[in-house]
Amino acid sequence: MSKKNRVIVSGENIEVVSENTETNAQNIKTKNNKNNNRRDFIKAAVASGLGICAVGTPICAGTRMVLTPVFQESQAGRFYPLTTVETLTEKPQKFAIVDNKRDAWTTLPNQKIGSLFVRKVGERVSAFHSLCPHAGCMIQIGTKKNPQTGNEEEMFYCPCHAAHFSLDGKRLDGVSPRDLDSLEVKIENGKVLVKFENFTFGIAEKRV
Ligand code: FES
Repeated sequence: MSKKNRVIVSGENIEVVSENTETNAQNIKTKNNKNNNRRDFIKAAVASGLGICAVGTPICAGTRMVLTPVFQESQAGRFYPLTTVETLTEKPQKFAIVDNKRDAWTTLPNQKIGSLFVRKVGERVSAFHSLCPHAGCMIQIGTKKNPQTGNEEEMFYCPCHAAHFSLDGKRLDGVSPRDLDSLEVKIENGKVLVKFENFTFGIAEKRV
């Protein structure tokens, strides 16, 4: 491409103007106009989208349907029937909790969603979550040395970091930040129902 220059004489000043320079300037101006147009278009699209959502059209309903799993709340604890009172003993028995399992997009029916221990001492029925409050390992029952008395006795313990708990759920050493997580129990017509829910690991407070 040939490069042309123009000479402009104005009073005592002589100015050399390159046509290429003018062309470049024109190109930059055109590009800026295009960018401005694009920015205006995006602003208008966002504004109209918000406007549409404000009046609740089916478009927004569809969008919400697609996004719903992202905002779906976790499954709240509920009561599960487990057994009858007469079958319980002082030695804790373990029960699996089966329910529909939901992730962000799907629901799988009849899945094991957790487990718990139930025992009865006298007329009192108590239940404990089977996950260790320290970091969530599976609690076991066995004969271990009580770290407080040195006696061998049956207790709950956690194999991961050697936490010990008495059979009434009290922690016997400082590994776990709290006692085993007790669960709410209801007796209805001789049937034992337990409210199953999960709690936050690693903190002193028992928090869902
Ligand atoms: S997870 Fe149980 S003691 Fe650490």
